[in-house]
Amino acid sequence: MRERFVMAVDQGTTSTRAVLVDRHGTIRGMAQEELRQYYPQPGWVEHDPVEIWESTLRVMRTVLAQTGTDASQVAALGLTNQRETTVVWERATGRPLYRAVVWQSRQTADLCQKLQQTPGVPELVRARTGLVIDAYFSATKIRWLLDHVPGAQARAEAGELLFGTIDAWLLWNLTGGRVHATDVTNASRTMLYNIRDLRWDDDLLRLLAIPAPMLPKVCPTSGFFGELDPRWLDGARIPVAGMAGDQHAALFGQHCFTPGTAKNTYGTGCFLLMQTGAQPVWSRHGLLTTVAWAIGDAVEYALEGSVFVAGAAVQWLRDELGLIATAAETEALAQSVASTGGVYVVPAFAGLGAPYWDMDARGAVFGLTRGTSRAHLVRAVLESLAYQTRDVLEAMVKDAGIALQRLRVDGGAAANNFLMQFQADILGVPVERPVHAETTVLGAAFFAGLAVGFWQSRDEIASLGGTERVFLPQMPSAERERLYRGWLDAVSRTRSVRP
Ligand code: G3P
Repeated sequence: MRERFVMAVDQGTTSTRAVLVDRHGTIRGMAQEELRQYYPQPGWVEHDPVEIWESTLRVMRTVLAQTGTDASQVAALGLTNQRETTVVWERATGRPLYRAVVWQSRQTADLCQKLQQTPGVPELVRARTGLVIDAYFSATKIRWLLDHVPGAQARAEAGELLFGTIDAWLLWNLTGGRVHATDVTNASRTMLYNIRDLRWDDDLLRLLAIPAPMLPKVCPTSGFFGELDPRWLDGARIPVAGMAGDQHAALFGQHCFTPGTAKNTYGTGCFLLMQTGAQPVWSRHGLLTTVAWAIGDAVEYALEGSVFVAGAAVQWLRDELGLIATAAETEALAQSVASTGGVYVVPAFAGLGAPYWDMDARGAVFGLTRGTSRAHLVRAVLESLAYQTRDVLEAMVKDAGIALQRLRVDGGAAANNFLMQFQADILGVPVERPVHAETTVLGAAFFAGLAVGFWQSRDEIASLGGTERVFLPQMPSAERERLYRGWLDAVSRTRSVRP
């Protein structure tokens, strides 16, 4: 019998990739395409939904062709995606109404400010959704789309328009327009979903005048969502059996199966999630409460600290300042100096996310002297990723009352040994890097594979992979705290309203 695989797709902010995963959890092939970014106004970020769908189909076909795999060998398909990004399309034609409004996009900051100032609303949003009011989440992006496109509100009320995050948009296309559904992790990032009762929240829909007929059905993360339209992959009717937001998939891909385990993904932004078990933990320190996943009826929750700019700051060094040619150079450059010489970079390019939630903060560089060099600046940017992670972890430990034993890491910048050592030093806990760096896409494969019996249990999944390297803290604690105090001072100087 021919070997069987699970296919997984990771539709991220800057690229789309498809992989084939075998029973041992090994990625046997990967195809990837970059995604075009649109910046129509300062602070706005948009994608073309049609490009997202077409590139997804292309990478799925390419990975099969590259590995000489027949579509009939694919046991299931798992999807994972950039979260919050919002698409509205026509039910009858599948045509998007507008571009996809990306999670980073700030075009609804004014509306969010109004909501924040409306008595009772921030508390309502927090209690129902676990989120804070911010332009980051889908709800105000839907409102903006319905206001921006003439006639859209009436058409949505008449059931002619559909909303979806990227998972739902892809599922709808993959199933040939037959299934309009999302998974509970993606729903939990819309600011419209009641994470305790597990349903769309009528009060929040009313608050933003969002018509219920446009919302997708919410399903468990691991389970049957629909079947691939046979037009797409040589007549194969592959079940779509797992869908999850990318950070939730990474949490699963990192085997964070027990409460208190946590992972940090260094991508465009930086997302630290800690599994908190079957009960949601409500944050009092600026974190988000979110659904980790639902497998059958069993729902587990997580605390999340979302940092908007991490790898994007390294891209800024490369693309805007021209200080480096490749991200990989930063490791040696940072190591070429003993410290930043007192320089701090606060990359608040899109405001500050957790735990500050300051939409109007902007980036800044502090402590420049005549002797500040390219290496100092590069090192300060890398260090800012580690400091932002510590900000989040401090809040998490206070909220969850659990002292973290170790932090599992993944994402592009996790390959940077300087950064990982500095991260361990500044946190004072070991940092653990897995053998399989592609934890996000693996998580999506695991969700789908579990649903169809490709893997039998979490225990079996936990036995796949392992740790590649552990970075142990080496910095004396007095030095750690001195450096961190300098960071806190720098951040306070970027705030729109000084605390
Ligand atoms: O919340 C946004 C996050 O899901 C985006 O992740 O990896 O596409 O930058 P990434």
